[in-house]
Amino acid sequence: MELRPFSGTYLTDPAAIWRDLLDGPERVHYAEDLGLWLITRHTDVRNALGDSEAFSNALTLLPIYDMCPEALSIVMEIDAPPTTAAADAPTHTRTRRALRATFPNTSARVNEQYGAIVRRRVDELVSRLVARRGTVVDLVSDFAAELPLLVIVDLLGVPAEDVPAIKNWSDGQIALIWGQPEPEEQVRLARGLLDFWRYCQKLVTLRVQDADAGDDFISKALRYRAGDDEILTENEVASFAFNLLVAGHETTSGLIAHGLDNALSVPSRWERLVENPSGVAAFVEETLRFGPAIDGWLRVTTRDVAIGDTTIPAGSRCLLLLGAANRDAATFAHPDVFDPHRADVREHLSFGYGPHFCIGAALARLEAQVALTHLTAAVPGLRLAPEHASSFKPNVGFRAHNALPVFVETFAQMDDRTPRAA
Ligand code: HEM
Repeated sequence: MELRPFSGTYLTDPAAIWRDLLDGPERVHYAEDLGLWLITRHTDVRNALGDSEAFSNALTLLPIYDMCPEALSIVMEIDAPPTTAAADAPTHTRTRRALRATFPNTSARVNEQYGAIVRRRVDELVSRLVARRGTVVDLVSDFAAELPLLVIVDLLGVPAEDVPAIKNWSDGQIALIWGQPEPEEQVRLARGLLDFWRYCQKLVTLRVQDADAGDDFISKALRYRAGDDEILTENEVASFAFNLLVAGHETTSGLIAHGLDNALSVPSRWERLVENPSGVAAFVEETLRFGPAIDGWLRVTTRDVAIGDTTIPAGSRCLLLLGAANRDAATFAHPDVFDPHRADVREHLSFGYGPHFCIGAALARLEAQVALTHLTAAVPGLRLAPEHASSFKPNVGFRAHNALPVFVETFAQMDDRTPRAA
């Protein structure tokens, strides 16, 4: 079969394809157009994520296609050591321990250490939106894509003037690895990726001299290594920055945009959140399940793996379709219904599962929850531009809206146009 993720239905309505795959007789599928095995059922995806001996992360961050020789030679210059998402034990165990020690990953610790930064950044962006009331604004470029990037640069202590370059490099990385760029574009994106890596190395070099002073993540990671390469090398700290600057924002941007789309495309949902913002946390969780920001994630088999009647040979790249797993009727009641009150929502696999479970899950939830809560209070009359139809960037991993044009209104639609706090 062919998945054709870069065109047609998969771009506008991937859930329709997931449904066909889940309902079909075969438990796993070989996508000939991609050279990837597709794993879709909740139980199979969860097993694969949890079994790091049979399913390795060694190729997770490498392009899904054969790059042209010129792009490949540029990418080969990137000597970023594998850490967390690109590593298997024992490197994974050691680098994940380092990240867990230096990056808060429970909701209490994230709130305590990063809550003020998140709220300040949300306030700034919401105020800017309020100032544009009465106009049409693209919530992707002017809100969802900005917030997580501004937060992650704050956390890493990266200069604000570098934000546009980081955004370009990071978008480029996602297109280069999980997209389908033409050879000329591959070369351009590969050059950007090399520049990005050199930039992250420089960030660390500059911080090495005064690591004692800083409270930012890079300084903390340098203090954690305590000059001992057995604990962590300086290049591994640079590799953390390289990964976090992308993982820390492209994903959460997607979550915020999906949440806003889910809420605004059915106005009664938005109105309920405006009336009762305490429902935002459950709404964000169902958004994660219903249409994850990463809906496909890669592993490679280290040995032959039998799933049902099919044996996936050793050395095969597998695309774990997290989005499909989240729609599996064997795990979720009425899986194609968006239900913010569902009892089974926490079974979703949108942050992965097991040894590689997302380090930033608590931060992502906090950002999305604070963002939606502030927006419902400040711009309760927000509504999607009437001509809008959702479409996504062509990618097998990251599901990102192209745009979300909205009319900004500070008055709620359903009441007597009483002004709300701005
Ligand atoms: C909605 C937002 C996010 C989504 C949907 C998401 C999703 C994921 C997924 C699917 C994985 C792979 C898990 C696995 O292989 O089992 C992952 C890993 C990871 N994520 Fe996230 N992520 C999000 C936000 C973040 C943020 C904000 C950060 C950091 C600031 C982050 C950092 C990481 C790291 C470091 C890993 C690798 C963990 C490891 O391999 O041990 N993510 N994430």
